[in-house]
Amino acid sequence: MQIEIKGMASGHSLFLSYLEHEKKLLLLDWLRDKKIPIASSCDGKGVCKKCGIQNGWLTCELTLEIFLQRQPDGVIEISYL
Ligand code: FES
Repeated sequence: MQIEIKGMASGHSLFLSYLEHEKKLLLLDWLRDKKIPIASSCDGKGVCKKCGIQNGWLTCELTLEIFLQRQPDGVIEISYL
């Protein structure tokens, strides 16, 4: 099971694997665990909006599981990467 991290600024993609139990993690925490430099100045309180990805989704408000329900192809688009 893989997630594609697509950097919209660089045009580069990175592919990361996830384990079933990791689907319960917030996407923000999972990305940080994988050393993806996701922006945040409110530390996941849903205020700064810097952790946003495509469709205006906030990674601090989605688990990996909910993200995959919304985006079954597992592609995360990050504008500043
Ligand atoms: S980390 Fe600030 S809104 Fe998500």
